[in-house]
Amino acid sequence: MLGRLNHVAIAVPDLASATALYRDTLGAKVSAPQALPDHGVTVVFIELDNTKVELLEPLGAASPIAGFLAKNPDGGMHHVCYEVGDIVEARDRLKASGARVLGDGEPKIGAHGKPVLFLHPKDFSGTLVELEQV
Ligand code: CO
Repeated sequence: MLGRLNHVAIAVPDLASATALYRDTLGAKVSAPQALPDHGVTVVFIELDNTKVELLEPLGAASPIAGFLAKNPDGGMHHVCYEVGDIVEARDRLKASGARVLGDGEPKIGAHGKPVLFLHPKDFSGTLVELEQV
């Protein structure tokens, strides 16, 4: 069911300084910031040869990463995103095996314009998992 690792996401308190760290100190290729109001975050993608790192900064008062940053004020690893061929089929299979899908369970359009879902970290070894249909 799982395909490639699409990205690892890191929540950060200051997107500009985190972007500068990856661009200037680590010498990585970084994207322009992209506001995703539906997800309550602004994102920057770090382009690597084999995958991406997604930097996430809260956007708006009800950002889903605000609580995470309250507990991890320096930032930290927030989720991993795996690619799947058919997100509805993957969701139905996971739900049938007892996994919890966050939100209303319906895929939303993510940062790459493709459908995404999030799975409950308590069902996946303490890791928030994003699935993206590619
Ligand atoms: Co993500």
